[in-house]
Amino acid sequence: MAIYLDHAATSFPKPEPVYRAVDAAFRNVGGNPGRGGHRMTLEAGRMVLDARETAAAFFGVRDAASVVFTSGATASINQALFGLLQPGDRVVTTSMEHNALSRPLHALEQRGVVVERVAAGTDGRVTLEQIRAACSTPTRLVALSHCSNVTGTIQPIGEIGRWCRQHGILLLVDAAQSAGVLPINVEDDAIDLLAVAGHKGLYGPSGIGLLCVRPGLRLEPLIYGGTGANSSEIIPPTELPERLEAGTPNLPGIAGLKAGLDFLSETGLHVLAARKQEQLQLLYAGLEKINGTRVFGPTSLENNGGVVSFLVEGRDPAEIGFLLDREYGILTRVGLHCAPEAHRTIGTFPGGTIRVSPGFFNTAEEIDLLLQAVASLTASS
Ligand SMILES: Cc1ncc(COP(=O)(O)O)c(C=O)c1O
Repeated sequence: MAIYLDHAATSFPKPEPVYRAVDAAFRNVGGNPGRGGHRMTLEAGRMVLDARETAAAFFGVRDAASVVFTSGATASINQALFGLLQPGDRVVTTSMEHNALSRPLHALEQRGVVVERVAAGTDGRVTLEQIRAACSTPTRLVALSHCSNVTGTIQPIGEIGRWCRQHGILLLVDAAQSAGVLPINVEDDAIDLLAVAGHKGLYGPSGIGLLCVRPGLRLEPLIYGGTGANSSEIIPPTELPERLEAGTPNLPGIAGLKAGLDFLSETGLHVLAARKQEQLQLLYAGLEKINGTRVFGPTSLENNGGVVSFLVEGRDPAEIGFLLDREYGILTRVGLHCAPEAHRTIGTFPGGTIRVSPGFFNTAEEIDLLLQAVASLTASS
């Protein structure tokens, strides 16, 4: 049996209720929500509303209608950026972003949007002062990830959000890594657009995500089509969520996401956070003891949302990752993790790093087996 330590890519296994919810929705909820008025359609609609309300409560969203279901964080970020920005708008972002954010921004740059990239420190962190300085030229949007998928670095999004709100600048947070791991409240953190992946820290299935839009903020849809509402009109509905949810939704995904959110609420985010800190503690302390390994990213555990990137001196990370899998059955991720600029920032471009990202169900013994395997591989170099 393999030891899965790649939760930053996607969480596995899922909590049992998530599997059951997906199966039940697929088997029993036959209708297409909002399409017609028969009983199965209504039942599907109720299920979607229930999940929407659960997600809204989880992220502190006042009006559940402004929680939009998407296919994942990438789709949410694209909808937010392409739905908001016009040529001439200025965006401030950071050097730590995943391609899910930096590629659409680059594409928009080609269309006349101005993008300024704040260089993070070698620990991956940007400060409010840096963001403020970058916003000294009129800026429409600050867009950044809450937690780096390369180093686990946590950005001070609450501080940044409150400052942006005071200065009339919108904030888009890529919460792909942090949702379900760190507390997020869109009201307290003054987040205008929150992009969430359902399949990572929320323990839902892949193919489902959320975009939480601040009530009153109007986005142009990225996808046009049927919504079940305002069908006589050729233009999309003006109201959320229908405006941004054209096409049949992913019902099993939505049901699984709701079960994941319930699992997190019932377990308690503080319990998950404590487990993550224990795992990080074991990883930091264990890797430090192995001669020839070097850990990148935040030096203090509290600034790490759950990802440890490291290298073994003189060894290609791809080879180490391959051997961990082949010889020890331990699954990590190696390379650039879809964030090349982050590696330039921490000094690990172009080879990248070996990334270990434990999940709630990983045991201390599994982490110990990884450390033993790294120690043997390092000794043989
Ligand atoms: C920081 C970050 N942003 C965005 C994404 C994209 O998420 P998804 O693949 O669910 O669209 C990821 C996925 O790894 C990520 O780590």
